[in-house]
Amino acid sequence: MVAYVLHRHPALLLDPALGEGAFFRAAKRYAECGGFTLTMHGRDIDPEILIHARESGLSDADLQHVELKDFVLEPPREQFPAIVANPPYIRHHRLTTEQKQLLRHYAQAATGRHIDGRAGLHVYFLIRALQSLSPHGRLAYIVSADICEGVFARQLWGWICEKFRLDGVITFSTGAAPFPDVDTNALIFLLANEPPVPEFDWVVCHTRETAPLLAVLEQQVPPGEAVTVHRRTVTEALSTGLSRPPQAEAVSRFTLGDFASVMRGIVTGDNDFFFLTSAQRDKLGIPAGLFVRAVGRTRDVSGDHLTLDDMDRLDENGRPTYLLSLNGTAFDALPMSVQQYLREGERRGIPEKVLIQTRKPWYRMEHRQVPPFLFAYLGRRSSRFIRNQAGVVPLTCLMCIYPHLTDSAFIERLWRVISHPETVANLRLVGKSYGGDAIKVEPRALERLPLPDALVVESGLHQYLQQKQGALDFR
Ligand SMILES: C[S@@+](CC[C@H](N)C(=O)[O-])C[C@H]1O[C@@H](n2cnc3c(N)ncnc32)[C@H](O)[C@@H]1O
Repeated sequence: MVAYVLHRHPALLLDPALGEGAFFRAAKRYAECGGFTLTMHGRDIDPEILIHARESGLSDADLQHVELKDFVLEPPREQFPAIVANPPYIRHHRLTTEQKQLLRHYAQAATGRHIDGRAGLHVYFLIRALQSLSPHGRLAYIVSADICEGVFARQLWGWICEKFRLDGVITFSTGAAPFPDVDTNALIFLLANEPPVPEFDWVVCHTRETAPLLAVLEQQVPPGEAVTVHRRTVTEALSTGLSRPPQAEAVSRFTLGDFASVMRGIVTGDNDFFFLTSAQRDKLGIPAGLFVRAVGRTRDVSGDHLTLDDMDRLDENGRPTYLLSLNGTAFDALPMSVQQYLREGERRGIPEKVLIQTRKPWYRMEHRQVPPFLFAYLGRRSSRFIRNQAGVVPLTCLMCIYPHLTDSAFIERLWRVISHPETVANLRLVGKSYGGDAIKVEPRALERLPLPDALVVESGLHQYLQQKQGALDFR
């Protein structure tokens, strides 16, 4: 990152989120090796940081231009030819209402676009960093992939790529993650205050060593096993998502939404109260018929099939699998054991809980048909489809996949396609990436999951679509 911004030996560098000063130390080494004079400016809001920066080997002279000020809301007056940053990663719900208001106002004024309020501080930091670049200046920015996957991403990157030149995006394969202990997929953006160009390098590092990456970027060696480079158009990358690999032309004609719809699992509002083991249920004396069998955690499903035996095993191990599923039956018409349990819930304040308040009556549970397939959308273990042979409904940790047709041959064929590794690999095209292999996919995005053409045709699934489209559109 430092090599990119100092490539032309500028006189000034800014690190707007100094921390312990890793970039200052690298920049100092780089300038010494290159034989040029560099003045380093820094920002942070944490007064303790200067102590840590000194402990990390920086001198008072190195730190003389560090100011303790908020970079976004109290920016430096001058512009810089080189900026390098590892910004604070503060998501929107950890910002105060006042901070959010100021930041949104700032983003609107700076970009002329509406940046959705779900943007975190690292998004506003990037806008401010770009505004602080002098003409021809360079910025290297390391940040979580959500900066190009969140709801605000289209507006943000539309603005950036209209005003600045995107030189590169550096990504890391699982074994090479720069922050291996953190559940986040980090990317580095290399941007210059130059007129935009149509193409840029999208780089994948397969090693944590710096030397192979530098050698490739400085064009001393061609890309190889340690570092791969895709030359991409900005237009394609923006529509695919900058954190995602380039899409081979027309990935597929078919998406999951052509064959099935997706719904989130049940939100109980209070699992401790509504979601019980058989032992708890029996102790309370509540009739078994008032419960539906449900799976509550991704971890409770170990493979890609879920059977009733698995459910019974979970119950034996003390995991809840029985969801108290009361409909709108009037309180007085419920069995006495249930009335007593609900009164106990009222004493515990359950009806006042946020999600439960709006329900009428408060104990009415959300309803889901049993879906033939479930989808585990986030977890340390990779996201996957699950065949629901147990006939259970999922709580909100899993999604429900409902095929458009109920005939068993259709469902079999669809399973063959969605459980195939090539389909699962396409998840990264529609999901948000986290650390390791974890991907988070929202229901609507999952419906956009491309199903590989060859698999759809081979399974015979396409015939249903054609037949149906000819007769009755089932979408
Ligand atoms: C991820 S750390 C930077 C790490 C740093 N590059 C290093 O070498 O250690 C982010 C830093 O941003 C600082 N910070 C948080 N909010 C800030 C703001 N509004 N303006 C400037 N710095 C801020 C934090 O105190 C923290 O030290």
